[in-house]
Order: sequence, then C-alpha cells, then structure tokens
Amino acid sequence: EWTPDAFVETTIAELQAKLGNDKVVLALSGGVDSSVAAILLHKAIGKNLHCIFVDNGLLRKGEYESVLEQYKHLGLNIKGVDAKERFLSQLAKVKDPELKRKAIGRVFIEVFDDEAHEVQDVKWLAQGTIYPDVIESVSVKGPSATIKSHHNVGGLPDFMKLKVVEPLNTLFKDEVRRVGKSLGLEHFIIGRHPFPGPGLAIRILGEVTAEKVAILQEADAIYIDNLKEAGLYDKVWQAGAIFLPVQSVGVMGDERTYENVICLRAVESVDGMTADWCHLPYNVLAKISNEIINKVKGINRVVYDISSKPPATIEWE
Ligand code: XMP
Repeated sequence: EWTPDAFVETTIAELQAKLGNDKVVLALSGGVDSSVAAILLHKAIGKNLHCIFVDNGLLRKGEYESVLEQYKHLGLNIKGVDAKERFLSQLAKVKDPELKRKAIGRVFIEVFDDEAHEVQDVKWLAQGTIYPDVIESVSVKGPSATIKSHHNVGGLPDFMKLKVVEPLNTLFKDEVRRVGKSLGLEHFIIGRHPFPGPGLAIRILGEVTAEKVAILQEADAIYIDNLKEAGLYDKVWQAGAIFLPVQSVGVMGDERTYENVICLRAVESVDGMTADWCHLPYNVLAKISNEIINKVKGINRVVYDISSKPPATIEWE
C-alpha cells in the first residue's frame, strides 16, 4: 500500500543514490508541486539544490514576497529574480493566448538560463512534474510544466542540456499534497489552489498591461481573501478573477461610469481535466462584488462564470 511516509523515505534514498554530490537547479513557482519537489530534494542533497524563483510580474498580489519568505524560512537555498519588466515588455501588443504563452515561456527560459549559468558545474535540472502533466502533455493547451512545454522555441538553452530529475512524476495531486504534509510543509503551501505558469496574463483577455495586472491583482485578492474568510477556499479546487476586455456603463454617485468588467471563476475538480462551476453562496458573492466595485478603481461590474468543463475550460484563454 502506498503511503506518503514510505514514498518520502524511498525517494530520498533514490535521489541520494542518483545525484551523489552533483549540483541541481530547480525553478520554484510557488505552487504545490515545485515546492514539494524542492523540499524532497533539499532533504536528499541539501545545499547542492539551487532553487530559482522568478517574479514574472504576473503572480497574485503580494505572492512573490510572501512565498519567497516562506521558502527561505524552510531553509531552501533560493534565489529570487525580479524579471517583471522583461516579461511585461515582451507581452506588449500581444493579444493571442498562445502567443502570450509562447512569449512568457521564451522569457522564462532566458531568465532561468541566465540564472542556471551562475551555478558552477550544475549537472541536473529538477522539475515538479506530476503524473497528470505527463498525460496532459498530449492535450491541446500543452503541458502545465512550464519548462517542458516550451522547449521547441528556437535553439536549446544550456540548462536544457542538463539531465532531468522529476521525483513526483508518478504522483497525482492529492498524493503530492499528502507527501507535502508528511514533509511538514505548511498549509499555506500545500493547500494552495493550482495557478497557471503564465499567471494573470491568461486571465487578462487580450493585451496585458501593467495597469490591467494591477487592477486584476486587487480584485483577485479581494476575491480570494473573502473565500478564505468564509471558509470556502479549501472547498474550492481552483478560483481566480478574470479581467474582461469589455467596458460597460455604470453609475457612481451622480456620475455615469464606463469601466471594465471582472469575472469570478471558481471550480470543483479532481485533476483539472473536467470541472464543475462552484455554487458559491449568494451572500458571499454579493459581498465580493460590492467590495470589488467599491474598492477597485476601473471596475464597475462583476459577473460570475457558470460554465463547466467541458465544454468550457477552467481558464478563459
Ligand atoms: P484549462 O483552462 O485547460 O486548465 O481547463 C486546466 C488546468 O491547467 C491550468 N493551466 C495551465 N497551467 N500553464 C500551466 O502551468 C498553462 O499554460 C496552463 N493553462 C491552463 C489551469 O489553471 C487549470 O488548473
């Protein structure tokens, strides 16, 4: 019978045998998978694991800072890289979802490659790939493992010549969470909703600008904080706000407004392959809507997505 404790024990032994005294680089995303992979590797090889956490400017509000802090607290050998401008400039005027993904993947590889070069004699690239990513790599949108999905963009970067180690590639998400728990990871990390590699860029329909990112971050933070406050965050598989490229008429005081629309999405799912929209309580939705419209400048309307997957997808792009 599979148990997380036994998995941790055998995997650490296997990693030690496989990696010896070699150096390993790993891109941390703030998500469950890469975090659990990092802790396992850290237990196995300690300071020979070099973690890189890139701020692409497309993360949730305050996430980069709080997650980096958390990782440092866990004792990981980690370097945070502020690459916000690099990503945003490459996204200018890009409207097509797949082109956005490609641009983000390309910049990520450039940034990661630069950083991996800083690690002398590195031999391995570690990834938090889980079993569904292996299956999903044949699906339409491509794999969720950010690095792999983009390895066909031009010449092979140097870190791609590294040997690959994927300690979680036989596990499903719930198993990864159980392993994380067995490793002592806090709920703050293991209980996190999945978040796509391209981040808020695929939740801003059409062109991404710094201004839209800032608006979406505020609205999304209000949404997520309210779900937590209402005790609903852990009951929802994934939730997030989406910035719609539509303006609608509203009224604020005696002023007519003409501003953007925020859509709220929350789904129940097991693995993201299929999903049902969550029947969130009306009073919670009402509070979130009021708060967003009152506090977030540039938004005068909030709508709720009641589409299931299939035929809709979880993300809008
Ligand atoms: P969809 O929108 O295809 O999403 O129903 C299924 C799950 O995959 C995530 N997702 C991505 N993750 N890179 C990622 O790392 C991507 O390009 C990407 N697109 C979708 C999505 O958040 C959901 O959990």
